[in-house]
Amino acid sequence: MTKEFATLNYDGKEIKLPLVVGTEGEVAIDIGTLRKETGMVTIDPSFMNTAACFSKITFIDGEKGVLRYRGIPVDELVEKTRFIETAYLLLHGKLPNEDQGNKFSTLLTENSLLHEDMRHFFDRFPRGAHPMSIMATMVNALSTFYPNVDTLSLREAVDTSAARIISTFRTLAAFAYKRSIGEPVVYPRHDLPFCANFLNMMFDSPVKPYEMKPEMVRILNSLLILHADHEQNCSTTAVRTVGSAQVNLYATISAGIAALSGPLHGGANQAVVDMLNRIAKDGNVKKYIDKAKDKNSSFRLMGFGHRVYKTYDPRAKIIKQQCHDFLDVMNMDDPMLNVARELEEEALKDEYFIKRNLYPNVDFYSGIIYRAMGIPENMFTVMFALARLPGWIAHWKEMIKSNSKITRPRQIYIGKTPKN
Ligand code: SDX
Repeated sequence: MTKEFATLNYDGKEIKLPLVVGTEGEVAIDIGTLRKETGMVTIDPSFMNTAACFSKITFIDGEKGVLRYRGIPVDELVEKTRFIETAYLLLHGKLPNEDQGNKFSTLLTENSLLHEDMRHFFDRFPRGAHPMSIMATMVNALSTFYPNVDTLSLREAVDTSAARIISTFRTLAAFAYKRSIGEPVVYPRHDLPFCANFLNMMFDSPVKPYEMKPEMVRILNSLLILHADHEQNCSTTAVRTVGSAQVNLYATISAGIAALSGPLHGGANQAVVDMLNRIAKDGNVKKYIDKAKDKNSSFRLMGFGHRVYKTYDPRAKIIKQQCHDFLDVMNMDDPMLNVARELEEEALKDEYFIKRNLYPNVDFYSGIIYRAMGIPENMFTVMFALARLPGWIAHWKEMIKSNSKITRPRQIYIGKTPKN
C-alpha cells in the first residue's frame, strides 16, 4: 500500500491524511488521526462511502460486475469445485489439497449430529414460526451445548467450531423443514457428501426413499458457492461488529442470520417469488414496473438493485442461465421464469432503472431454482444463510486475527441541549 496524502484545509490549517491503496487499486483516505488533529469526525450514514476494514477474503468490482473469493472468480469456483472446497478456500485462504479436503469433510460429518436435547427445542416453536427465526435461535443455543471457541487465540478449536456450525446448521435446517410438514426428521449420514446429505435429510422419508439426482446435487453446490461470501454486506458487517465485542462465535453467527433475514438483504429471495406470484396472477408486468417507479408507493422490484453492483450482478447472470438449464434437464416448466424474464426485459429498457443502474441481483432468479428443487419459499433465506456461513466465519476469523478493536462508531448529536 503506497503512502501518499490527501490534504484537508480547515480553519487555516493544512492537515495531511495518508492514502491507502488496496491490491486491486482501490484508494481510501485513512482518517485515523482526523479527530486528534482537528476535533472533527466524518459522517456517512449506512457507511455508503466508508471502508470499515482491510480484508483479503472477497473482492467485488461493482462497476465491472466482478466477484472473486481469495482471488478466484466465482464462475471458476462454480465450474471446478464443490461447496465444501469453496468453504475451505474462504476459511483458510486456499483450496484444499486432497488430504485437507478429506479432513474437512470428516470434520463436517463428525459434527453433523444435533445434541439430542436440542431436538426438543423445535416442539416449543409455534407451528408457523419462520425458519430464519428458528435458525437464529437454535444457532445461538449451540453455545449452551458446545464449548465456545476461545476468541483470543485462533487455535484448532476454530476449525471444529466452524465445521460444527456449518454442519449443524445444515441438520437444523432440514429438521426445521421436516417438523414444519409434520414428518419425522432424517438424520445425517456418514456416507453422503455435504449437499447430498442435506437433500437426503430434506426429502427422504421412511415410506418413500429419496432418489438422489446428480443434477440436484450439482445445482445445490453451485447455488451455495455463489452465495458463500460477498465482502462487507449487511449481515457480514453484523458478524464483524458483534464479534468485535468477543461474543462467542455461535451468538455472533446468530446475529448474521438475523440481519440476513431482512427483505432488503437475504430475505429478498423469498420476497421475489411472492412478487412474481402476484405479477403472474395479475398478468400485468408494466403495472408493477410503474408501481416500483412511483415514489408514493413503497413497492420495490424485489431482486433488483444493489448497493455495490451498478451493473448485472455476476451471480445473477450465472443463476439465470442455470435456472433455464436446470428446468430443462429436469423436464420442468415454471411460468414464473417467463414472468421473471419479461419483468427483467421491461425494467432494463426503462429509463428509471437505467438511470439508477438497477439490475437483477443474486436473489432475482435463485428462488425459481429452489422451487424447482422442492424447497418451500420460507426456506429460501435459510438456504442463503447455509451458504453464507463460511463467509461469515472467515470474516470473523480475519477480524479476530487483526486484533480489531471493539466496533464503536461516533455520531453527530442533533438533539436537545440544556439551552433549547
Ligand atoms: C443482497 O450488500 C450485499 O452484498 C448484499 C447481497 C449479499 O450477497 O450479501 O448481495 C445480497 O442483499 C442483495 C439485495 C437484495 N435486496 C433486494 O433485492 C431488495 C430490493 N432492492 C432494493 O431495496 C435496493 O436496491 C437495495 C437495498 C438492494 C440497495 O439499496 P441502496 O443501495 O440503499 O439504494 P437506494 O435504496 O438508495 O436506491 C437508490 C435509488 C432510489 O431511487 P431515488 O431515491 O434515487 O429516486 O434506486 C431506487 C431507490 O428508490 N431503487 C429501486 C430499487 N432499488 C433501488 N427502485 C425500485 N426497485 C428497486 N428494487
